[in-house]
Amino acid sequence: MKQLVELFEKKSRLVIGLMSGTSVDGIDAAIAEIEGSGTGMKMRQIDFITVPFPEGFKELVIRNSLTGTSDVADIARLNFLIAQLYADAVRRLCNHAGVKTQDVDLIGSHGQTIHHLPRAERMFGKDVSATLQIGDPSVLAKLTGIATVGDFRVGDIALGGQGAPLVPYFDYILFRSNEKSRSLLNIGGISNITYLPKGCGTQDVLAFDTGPGNMIVDRLMKKMFNKDFDEGGAIAIAGTIQGDMIDWLMTDTFVRMAPPKSTGRERYGDPFVTSLLEKYGGRRIEDIIATVSEFTAVSVYTNYLLFLKTKGGIDELFVSGGGAHNRYILDSLRNHFGGVSVAAAEDIGVSSDAKEALCFAVLANELVSGNPANLPSVTGASKETLIGKICLP
Ligand SMILES: Nc1ncnc2c1ncn2[C@@H]1O[C@H](COP(=O)(O)OP(=O)(O)O)[C@@H](O)[C@H]1O
Ligand SMILES: [Mg+2]
Repeated sequence: MKQLVELFEKKSRLVIGLMSGTSVDGIDAAIAEIEGSGTGMKMRQIDFITVPFPEGFKELVIRNSLTGTSDVADIARLNFLIAQLYADAVRRLCNHAGVKTQDVDLIGSHGQTIHHLPRAERMFGKDVSATLQIGDPSVLAKLTGIATVGDFRVGDIALGGQGAPLVPYFDYILFRSNEKSRSLLNIGGISNITYLPKGCGTQDVLAFDTGPGNMIVDRLMKKMFNKDFDEGGAIAIAGTIQGDMIDWLMTDTFVRMAPPKSTGRERYGDPFVTSLLEKYGGRRIEDIIATVSEFTAVSVYTNYLLFLKTKGGIDELFVSGGGAHNRYILDSLRNHFGGVSVAAAEDIGVSSDAKEALCFAVLANELVSGNPANLPSVTGASKETLIGKICLP
């Protein structure tokens, strides 16, 4: 346990953060020097890479994320395989950054979510909620020789929370302001927003998933063009929004559901795309992509109107995640948000691609510093708690 004590006592740590989201596009790996913890923390990003997943991997993960197409033997193997791919990503990142793996103090690994069931169901007399991130942190610790924190979400769920979103703690520490009310919007497979009213304390932070990010568009692009995504939003830009279709999309119950709320592929995956195409499959594909991209932007804005504007609104919106590269979505957000300044996360001093990976480096650092990092006002958990499991090499 000497190892653990040394780790706890360090004032400054070299930490790697690993994130692979619901888009299943690849592993985002960031390395940062982190000094101190909590609101006094200072973080310096050293390097960031994305390691794409191998061909066919995304389909295998998606198949194993849904009831009806999943296979328990696949899931058991994926739990190890993903950790092996993460370990390769750690080695590549260290090479790229010119850092020796033995100098890295800690890894924070989100894992690959394959199922997220925040709503409790009654089973054998117990209310049971669940979330499952695979890519076992213990396997990762053994393969890299680096202490690894993983499974950040389960502790919050155990206390009645959604286990999500977890990024708001990071947003609060790094981006709160006494002068401006800010929101940070991450557009991954799913979109989620953090609200930091000016002068906020942790109890004032709000954050929740707003609905789809790129997930539906990605799936349509695969089906129609055998492409992984709509590069730069070019297809959407060539299309015209279909009024009846957007009205139908906006009947989606998640969008208007009051927070706390979180969602995933269970809601916006293949079955959603199938029912969309059954109804509107006859339209021009560019028009379908434009309308579904508009759905992403308008669902963000609707959530803002319903749940954040009423609390005082924002002066600035900073966008991160792969969706920040989609010009159609950004332009549409700018239109909807009118007088609010809409910019990429770079404008607030963090790489929009690296942000989530950095967040999990920071959350790992918070755990070994003994700081609770869930926000009960955000997740709905009964109290603040330490989040994550520490696995030693
Ligand atoms: N150049 C780009 N143009 C348009 N969309 C992009 C671009 N790069 C990435 N994306 C979108 O972002 C997604 C990945 O975003 P990411 O933030 O990694 O999400 P996740 O956390 O779900 O993995 C891709 O699947 C794609 O839809
Ligand atoms: Mg990704």
